[in-house]
Amino acid sequence: MTVRSVILGTGSYLPTKVVTNNDLSESLETSHDWIVERTGICARHIAAPDEHTSDIAVKAAQRALIAAGLTPQDVDMIVLATATPDHVFPATAVRVQAKLGMTHGFAFDQSAVCSGFIFALATADMYLKQGMAKTALVIGAETMSRLVDWTDRSTAVLFGDGAGAVVLQAQSQTDRGILGNLLRTDGVGYEQMYVRKDTPGIHMNGREIFRNAVHRLDEAVGEILERCNVTQDQIDWLVPHQANKRIIDATAKRLGLPESKVIHTGAVQANTSAASIPLALDAAVKDGRIKQGDLILCEAFAAGYAWGSTLIRM
Ligand code: ACO
Repeated sequence: MTVRSVILGTGSYLPTKVVTNNDLSESLETSHDWIVERTGICARHIAAPDEHTSDIAVKAAQRALIAAGLTPQDVDMIVLATATPDHVFPATAVRVQAKLGMTHGFAFDQSAVCSGFIFALATADMYLKQGMAKTALVIGAETMSRLVDWTDRSTAVLFGDGAGAVVLQAQSQTDRGILGNLLRTDGVGYEQMYVRKDTPGIHMNGREIFRNAVHRLDEAVGEILERCNVTQDQIDWLVPHQANKRIIDATAKRLGLPESKVIHTGAVQANTSAASIPLALDAAVKDGRIKQGDLILCEAFAAGYAWGSTLIRM
């Protein structure tokens, strides 16, 4: 009997403080128009000083559980995608597990930066299909503001904080669920974008990342459709990682999708790394655009390079 990992609920959380492009232009040599034209970003949410990645992850997870009609006691696995863990070790996922009041099951972090949610979803999908867990929380949560050098205009304008989560459950005899995952890495990109352990600040060769993102995502979306025997016109929604509106537009064009079928939250959330896909997914589920039965395609490209795509029947 085929087992599928079905999304039972989504949830998200954004810190209350909002920083606009105009706010940034008060301390940086930049402008609202430059940022919008190059990235599509207008504003971003920033975590409070005492708000950690685990705190915002828990809030998103609790909302996803409510949407799924479940409690933490129903969950036996947590995968947390983050590049901004509370501590170097132990895993922030274990802290999330404790804050949710769970004393059973297992939890671990997954690191693939902006592609973290795609990697975490594929990992949880495999565990559920193997029968190692029945119900999983897959969370993307980031406090990117802690990594940013706020005096560096080339990266400070790009990132934001936030968290999104989905509840995945193994089910048989269903058309719903994850239909396929595609994961790729290529360490040739290792020096193109990084944060050192001992010195703050995001080092990024923006042009090189941009160029690679466009052509590698082009392949990643084509390959997953082919592998799942799905045609472009069958896709109801593209739910992409929200790094840059121009990268998203290029992928949508490649798929022949009109803008009305693309979920874009980057304008008001900026790049929240591993959190951006579940944040976008939850926004579109909550406002009624994405409905049960819809076919959605998620994709992300990240530092590493690490990239991938996922096809899901909601
Ligand atoms: N305001 C004004 N000017 C700026 C700013 C700014 N905030 N930042 C850079 N500039 C200047 C540069 O100094 C440069 O000036 P120069 O021509 O005098 O040297 C000029 O603008 C053009 O800079 P570019 O870097 O070439 O600008 P580009 O059009 O490439 O846009 C951007 C930069 C937005 C960063 C783009 O390259 C991009 O989005 N790259 C991909 C980012 C990404 O997807 N990251 C991967 C995921 S993130 C992750 O994994 C965590």
